[in-house]
Amino acid sequence: MTLNENKIEIIVVKDAKEGGKKAAKIVQQELENGLKVIGLPTGGTPETMYEEIRKSDLDFSDVVAINLDEYVGLAADHPQSYAYFMKEHLFDHKPFKETHVPDGLAPEAEETARYDQILADNPIDLQILGIGTNAHIGFNEPGSGFDDTTRKVDLTESTIESNQRYFDSADEVPRTAYSMGMGSIMEAKKILLIAYGENKAEAIAKTVNGEITKEVPASILQKHDNIVFVIDEAAASKL
Ligand code: GLP
Repeated sequence: MTLNENKIEIIVVKDAKEGGKKAAKIVQQELENGLKVIGLPTGGTPETMYEEIRKSDLDFSDVVAINLDEYVGLAADHPQSYAYFMKEHLFDHKPFKETHVPDGLAPEAEETARYDQILADNPIDLQILGIGTNAHIGFNEPGSGFDDTTRKVDLTESTIESNQRYFDSADEVPRTAYSMGMGSIMEAKKILLIAYGENKAEAIAKTVNGEITKEVPASILQKHDNIVFVIDEAAASKL
């Protein structure tokens, strides 16, 4: 466990299995500290953490869950939607007080305002994040504003390529998404970012030690005062 000069606490684990255990442990500690609202990510990265949580006796029945993002155009029952992912990996297994995922079928103005109201009513105690190979968080692609609230975003080619593994072809990957903005993410009391694999090493190095710039969205996390990264040795290899 180390603190780099930007005060990001970095925990290096052997692999995703160990990372899942460590991340679930952090969630457990926060529950013990009175966590009431948790911000949740999707993607391959958090899968081992969700597995550990499913196996645990952790109780979320008094916790509000708020997800980061959703593809525009996918219904909640579409197998590649993030709403479906969350049911499969967590919500069908653990009861929560409330769960929120943006509605990919709702009109933009209504949905972004609705989501911002949910966030205003439920300040996030712990926000868990993955990271894209281009250092996006949520779906805040390079160029996104650091003060942004929930909005509709265009996905970059690199993100479409990365995420096409879940679809039959790249053509089927939605081109837009609703995403919590980085302004909302930064308001969380504590942030836990998880990353595994060599393909995340560059993004992690730039995020931790690089210049704070919109071209590296996650670099804004250097300014958060309660932040921990759980990353494996491969993702840490360029630090
Ligand atoms: C997606 C999600 C992000 C996620 C990222 C990395 O685009 N919107 O929240 O962190 O991809 O995904 P993975 O964990 O599968 O590498």
